[in-house]
Amino acid sequence: MKAFVPTGDPAEPVVLADVPEPTPRPDEALVRVEAFSVNRGETFKLEAPVPGERPGKDIAGLVVQPAADGSGPAGIARVVGHPMGGGWAEFAAVPTSALAVLPDSVSATDGAALPLAGLTALRLLRAAGPVVGRRVLLTGASGGVGHYVTELATAAGAEVTAVTRDTERGARLSELGAAEIVHRPADARGPYDIVLESTGGQALPVALARLAKRGTLIWFGQASRTPVTLDFFAFFDGPESAVIRHFHYLDADTVLGDDLATLVRLTAEGRLHPEIGRVADWADTASTLTDLRDRRIRGKAVLTLS
Ligand SMILES: NC(=O)c1ccc[n+]([C@@H]2O[C@H](COP(=O)([O-])OP(=O)(O)OC[C@H]3O[C@@H](n4cnc5c(N)ncnc54)[C@H](OP(=O)(O)O)[C@@H]3O)[C@@H](O)[C@H]2O)c1
Repeated sequence: MKAFVPTGDPAEPVVLADVPEPTPRPDEALVRVEAFSVNRGETFKLEAPVPGERPGKDIAGLVVQPAADGSGPAGIARVVGHPMGGGWAEFAAVPTSALAVLPDSVSATDGAALPLAGLTALRLLRAAGPVVGRRVLLTGASGGVGHYVTELATAAGAEVTAVTRDTERGARLSELGAAEIVHRPADARGPYDIVLESTGGQALPVALARLAKRGTLIWFGQASRTPVTLDFFAFFDGPESAVIRHFHYLDADTVLGDDLATLVRLTAEGRLHPEIGRVADWADTASTLTDLRDRRIRGKAVLTLS
């Protein structure tokens, strides 16, 4: 079968190659991939590929071989899946614990846009606790995760201030419910009960300073790739007794497939709207990856297999 394999070349990070079809474990279904999405974090991993590893965590397609242990869909079914790799391919083996059935009303393109970014947003908000009536500051808001966080948090009753590079990058966030769009954390008025921070560098300390006393900053990324420096003494003038919490989306008590099913249900009900900045044929995967890495795509990027 055809699949994308890493090259280590930043100009063309993946090429299509002939690889063996996957052999599913007993708890895995074999899925014929119809669409997959790519994530900026994956583009960073492609800079130093691990030999033998194939990328791809977000897929939608058709189960063509159910899991041998009887788990998951029993027959042919449309699904969305979140394998830990190997998804940018004609076929992927996906643990049934990371699969959800896709109703006819949700397209493969929308489905493929859900897994990593949607799961991160959903679990990030769970980690934040109840947000009804709470003021939330969200950095990196124009990305895949940011659009989902904005819509989910607003629906749950939060007042969201979103930080985006410019007005165009924030346009859709207003429609999804953001109360305010600012273009630098320094322009956010605060105080905020919760800061959701994923850009690092200078942004984190500035956003942290906008927390209310005993507020919480959840740190879930470093998109600028610049480490953060914090000054203990600055806290005397800022968010006294603030909590800084590290977050990783796989550290959760819930099953991936169950949370995926929630994202699918909300999408089917018209309560979650994947923001997809680019849909292209999978032949354009390499250029889509470089455009995503270089911040030329808003929201998600989805590749479709013809
Ligand atoms: N902790 C976890 O479990 C977990 C899971 C998934 C993702 N993440 C992280 O979550 C973040 C968002 O992921 P994503 O998939 O939504 O990525 P994305 O679609 O590429 O979005 C990245 C966001 O960060 C902003 N950004 C990029 N470079 C920046 C810079 N140098 N300075 C300031 N802002 C910058 C972008 O703003 P522009 O519009 O200006 O480009 C965009 O809003 C990433 O940091 C990712 O690594 C963490």
